[in-house]
Amino acid sequence: MHANPRAKINLTLSIGPRGEDGYHSLQSVMLRVGLADELVVAFAETGADTLTVAGLPGCPVDGNLVLRAFGLVRQAIGHELPPLVAHLDKRIPMAAGLGGGSADGAAGIEAAQVMWGVGLSPQARAEIALELGSDVPFFAQGGDAALVTGRGEQVERLPSLEGSAGFLLVTPSVALSTAQVFARFDDLGSAAASESVTTELASALRAGMSGDSLPAWAARLRDANDLWPAAASLAPGLAALREYLEAETSQPWLLSGSGSTMFALYPSVAEATADGRLIVSAESELLEGAIINAVDLIGPDPNWRYP
Ligand code: C5P
Repeated sequence: MHANPRAKINLTLSIGPRGEDGYHSLQSVMLRVGLADELVVAFAETGADTLTVAGLPGCPVDGNLVLRAFGLVRQAIGHELPPLVAHLDKRIPMAAGLGGGSADGAAGIEAAQVMWGVGLSPQARAEIALELGSDVPFFAQGGDAALVTGRGEQVERLPSLEGSAGFLLVTPSVALSTAQVFARFDDLGSAAASESVTTELASALRAGMSGDSLPAWAARLRDANDLWPAAASLAPGLAALREYLEAETSQPWLLSGSGSTMFALYPSVAEATADGRLIVSAESELLEGAIINAVDLIGPDPNWRYP
């Protein structure tokens, strides 16, 4: 079975206090965009479930959410099931705020059920998703857009954007650990500032929104990620890169999740690509080692990639 688990961006990310379970309450409008890994799953003859990875370097096999998903589905079914062999082609940068590992994990939950011909209850699926990580319930619900609350387990599916939309994603070479960014957020004592824009954007999406009207929100969304100060203090180059991107493109640039990916919003992928070409043409050292993707909601621009 083949799957193409797509990445997410956080259009807003409002963070509340850390709870007794160690997780922060949050509110986020999340959107799946057209940058996907490729997951292929088949039956193995004997032995344990196995995984091989290719594509972007640095993706771990041990503890990979695809393998953990297989294990948890197997455990929930509770009887002998044949081993699975999976191959993952990584195209979503890791530790980048794009939810790549979580998207793969959610795809793993689905793939295991399809392969084994079993259907877990929605509740069992939701429990497995949350056990894999706070971003996984968003991916497991299957829709393109959602208002996510709680620690990530409450997912209100929102209508997909209509028509065209474009996104330019810049992932600098610095990887950021989500746990470390949240810890720095606590140290800085930042207060949730972006609750109202989250509520308003969710309302607009609920009412039905065209993708090409999303860029009009960019100026307000720019500062609607409460993790920005924490991410920027852990990765000092991030603020300078954002200044560069904003100066070159005359667009607001947003941080996705806990970073380090930043993105800008366009009416179509053609406009995103045009700005992609523009920002690399100056050969700035700020972009050394960066991965840049121009995408729409479904996939990347087939005619341009960087590097
Ligand atoms: O759930 P996940 O394993 O992806 O979370 C990684 C880390 O991010 C957690 O250990 C926690 O430190 C932090 N986190 C948080 N609040 C959330 C989600 C994640 O503090 N809602």
